[in-house]
Amino acid sequence: MQRPSLWGLGFHTPARCITNADFERLVDTSDEWIVTRTGIRTRYHVAPGETCSQLAVQAARNALADAGLLPQAITHVLIATFSGDYPIPSTSCLVARELGICVPAMDIAAACSGFLYALEVGRGLVALHPDAVVLVIGSEVCSSRINFNDRSTCVLFGDGAGAAILQAKPRAGAPLVHDILLHADGTAADLLTVRGGGSGCPPILGGTIGPEYFVEMNGREVFKYAVRLMTDVCQEILARNGLSVADVDLLIPHQANVRIIEAVARKLEVPEERCFVDVDRFGNTSAASVPIALADARAQGRIRPGDTVLLASFGGGFTWAAALLQF
Ligand code: UT7
Repeated sequence: MQRPSLWGLGFHTPARCITNADFERLVDTSDEWIVTRTGIRTRYHVAPGETCSQLAVQAARNALADAGLLPQAITHVLIATFSGDYPIPSTSCLVARELGICVPAMDIAAACSGFLYALEVGRGLVALHPDAVVLVIGSEVCSSRINFNDRSTCVLFGDGAGAAILQAKPRAGAPLVHDILLHADGTAADLLTVRGGGSGCPPILGGTIGPEYFVEMNGREVFKYAVRLMTDVCQEILARNGLSVADVDLLIPHQANVRIIEAVARKLEVPEERCFVDVDRFGNTSAASVPIALADARAQGRIRPGDTVLLASFGGGFTWAAALLQF
């Protein structure tokens, strides 16, 4: 099978920067606790009225500019999100409308692994339709689903979007998607949830909105799963491609907590300088975390031509995944 390429990358975060000091005024926490337990110093939250589709459109425009393409070139729109504008219409339909295109569009729900899931669906589309130009986005307004009274979760999450343009045709400088590996296991689904509003926890007209409408997480347990499963999936994708950790020029893991990232890197024996971290600036942006980190790493000059980049993600469900890119 011909390997498709990522023609363009782009990301966007809202303008409003939320510092740890802002949370000190809101809940019983401290900058010292947040930095030592998570590595997070700032995150960006939308302004009132700013939506998931708006962040996605900005990231998409940046990725299109990077690819040197107009929106009219796009044949499919895929958006990974848990915090879309509405249940209906899908956020991807709203993004297509804003970009002025009428093409197949759908949302994908795989929590923080959503971008790699969407990229795999995109790989399927370009395999079926060799002329397809697939806009793949991870976009989240996590702040709309944060319980600002819960100090154990509210400090963690940020808003933002990352986008990539996937095509079968190769192009100089566009990384090849060498392989993608997806996993899911629902047996520990209850450890990380946003239940309110779904048919399992339907909204009641005139009823109250309780904590079940927001992220609820057993952080300590999720932490252990995240370290083990991201480490495992990295080892699995390397092994099935006949590669070793020494072949990886940059590891870009899901940005949830710097202690998780460091633990995964330590277990894989990836040295610090070959592991990318931007959770300190953006917090955990769920499905947007991996595409933001990828575009951010390239913008910072951390990726050189010829580099092998290993992406890894872990999120609610649980879902976890890895991808190998060849720059
Ligand atoms: O993206 C999807 C995947 N998500 C993740 O991967 C997140 C995984 N989990 C984590 O990153 C960490 O578990 C947390 C950052 C959520 C929590 O860190 P922890 O080191 O696991 O802390 P903990 O939950 O064991 O709590 C330790 C203490 C508790 O106090 P006691 O019971 O020891 O008195 C908490 O109440 O820290 C307390 N605590 C806080 N203190 C100050 C929890 N949150 C805060 C806070 N400020 N914001």
